[in-house]
Amino acid sequence: MAPVMDNADPRESLRAHLRSATMAAHDLLDHAMQAASGWQTRSDYARFLALQHAARAPLEAWIGAHAPRGLAPPPQSGLIARDLAALDCALPAPAPLFTLGRTGAGHALGTAWVLAGSALGNRAIAKQVARIGGGTWPVAFLDDGAMMAFWQGLRERVERPAGIEEAEGATRAAEAVFAHFLAVAEGAQVPEGAAS
Ligand code: HEM
Repeated sequence: MAPVMDNADPRESLRAHLRSATMAAHDLLDHAMQAASGWQTRSDYARFLALQHAARAPLEAWIGAHAPRGLAPPPQSGLIARDLAALDCALPAPAPLFTLGRTGAGHALGTAWVLAGSALGNRAIAKQVARIGGGTWPVAFLDDGAMMAFWQGLRERVERPAGIEEAEGATRAAEAVFAHFLAVAEGAQVPEGAAS
């Protein structure tokens, strides 16, 4: 994530606030994912996808149960499953349940921001994967147009000022989603059938 001002005020832009609040968590996650898999070889890339699937499946279940329609990012676990199948890799076991306790103001918004915002990073990773894999590796997940379209709509919403209660809830949810991904990356396992 590009550097942003520390402690950006959510009364100016919720997005800037969320980015500053989670910048350290994002950097930690980026490093953990590079260590757990990266995407330098075909088997690294398969591990990367398996990790993404394991982490996203319980988050998508939470969204299905708690997020209002406009704040539910399109599910991506099906796209990841398709990419894994194209690489002849088995689906990993999903990560444990994701929960935020009692759902409150800002929770769905913060969760949606992390998942949709990750499409920005995915776009950069997709370019590298296309180069390294010579255009032969499947990229249904990294190149997901539905998530980019959702991000464009959400962007308007998060670039507006937010009230304190909503901002606090969104921040707590965003931190929890990053922590959930980090736990998966730190416990990542090699999927069966991965070959370089
Ligand atoms: C695998 C390693 C990752 C890399 C290399 C990476 C890279 C990036 C990059 C380059 C950006 C900035 C893009 C831009 O401003 O145009 C970004 C933003 C972001 N990424 Fe990641 N990312 C990674 C993993 C993740 C994961 C797993 C998540 C969460 C599930 C995530 C969530 C976000 C969010 C929320 C943003 C900010 C959206 C905003 O600007 O409002 N990233 N990432």
